[in-house]
Amino acid sequence: MPSYTVKTLRALTRSCEDMRDRVKQIAFEPENTKVLNLTFGPGIAAELVGRSVEAIRQAEKDGRLPQPKQLGNARRYYTIDDLTHIRKVFGIEVGKASDEDAVVVAVQNFKGGVGKSTITKHFADYLALHGYRVLVVDCDPQASTTTMFDIQPESLLDDECTLGEFLSPRSTFDEFPKAIHDTAWPTTKIVPSSLGLQDAEWDLTSTLTEGSQAVRESLQRLRIGLQTVIKDFDVILLDPPPAMGFLGLNVMAAASGILIPVPARQLDYLSTIHFMETIAENLEILDSHGTPVDYGFIRIVCSAFNPGKPGEHEMLQMMQATYANFLLSQPILSSEEIKNATQAFRSIYESKPSAATATYQRCRDNLDSVFGEVLQQIRQQWPSKNLAMQRTTDDSGSIAA
Ligand SMILES: Nc1ncnc2c1ncn2[C@@H]1O[C@H](COP(=O)(O)OP(=O)(O)OP(=O)(O)O)[C@@H](O)[C@H]1O
Ligand SMILES: [Mg+2]
Repeated sequence: MPSYTVKTLRALTRSCEDMRDRVKQIAFEPENTKVLNLTFGPGIAAELVGRSVEAIRQAEKDGRLPQPKQLGNARRYYTIDDLTHIRKVFGIEVGKASDEDAVVVAVQNFKGGVGKSTITKHFADYLALHGYRVLVVDCDPQASTTTMFDIQPESLLDDECTLGEFLSPRSTFDEFPKAIHDTAWPTTKIVPSSLGLQDAEWDLTSTLTEGSQAVRESLQRLRIGLQTVIKDFDVILLDPPPAMGFLGLNVMAAASGILIPVPARQLDYLSTIHFMETIAENLEILDSHGTPVDYGFIRIVCSAFNPGKPGEHEMLQMMQATYANFLLSQPILSSEEIKNATQAFRSIYESKPSAATATYQRCRDNLDSVFGEVLQQIRQQWPSKNLAMQRTTDDSGSIAA
């Protein structure tokens, strides 16, 4: 009789980790860690900083900017650090004013596999490319986003300064900034998921028996942690687990804007009815425990849309009719480029085309336009960027986003 024990599962886990490390080694050759070798031609560089090629050239001529680097064929190129320097010299401040708060975006849906982590990673890279300071907080014990940022959760095993430790009411670790790690992107930081995050979920849940004050504190732990760094970043992205528990509630309580990915599949669409209901109930729970929330925006994005698949167009139309202005105008297309890039632990912003350049560019243009819309919502939260700010609150309950 075969006997499968904890030992068997541990051996399987180790085997998976070994395989991941081998794949990573191949993907990140020769360094074995993620290094950003991004270079941009003059046209793209100019577009990313929001100035003309001529203006940059002129600044290089009159010495305000250094001469650009050149490839063997004399083609000029810029690195991500060069873009930061160009923005500085031109006095371009893309983000919030120093006394404003970061916008905290939860990429939330309680259903698994809808694209939350893929969107979080790609949106973080999109924002970084455009000069924003980003903090990614991986609140999912599955740690997909953490791995995409090239941090292995088991490498944090002996680390006492983790998100799990911070969130757990049993822990005495209360210095949230110490849980923040650097990434390969100069302006992006991450609070990685750690194996202790699942324990934190259980610890938080157990406060349910300890009275309303304990529950309220358990719901606000992430919000309180983020408050200590809220002026240091432009955007904070939260990647929650696909389940509603205390981690999910902490995310809902800490967010100032919500982005909900929903694939154009019937079951996912129908599950959103349940999701919306649950979200409303959870907000009531937060409210009744002294943690009211007031989001600056809620947007739904159709994720991994495949126009060639039977029924998806009709589903998208249904989503447009149902969600009206809450739905972003563009769906995120399902793309082999995204699949291939994520399998190599990269976003498409970090990788080169895996097949035809046109396919890659289409995928990238699509993400750019989707994220551009979300960015617009984010910028509207900063009075310095939105002087004519008029936040319309939807007291009537009608669909007007
Ligand atoms: N636009 C897309 N095109 C192609 N593949 C995609 C796209 N978006 C996501 N995927 C793939 O779908 C799978 C699930 O995506 P992802 O892990 O981002 O979902 P999730 O909502 O974070 O899942 P979980 O709930 O388990 O955390 C991944 O394999 C990812 O590569
Ligand atoms: Mg995920």
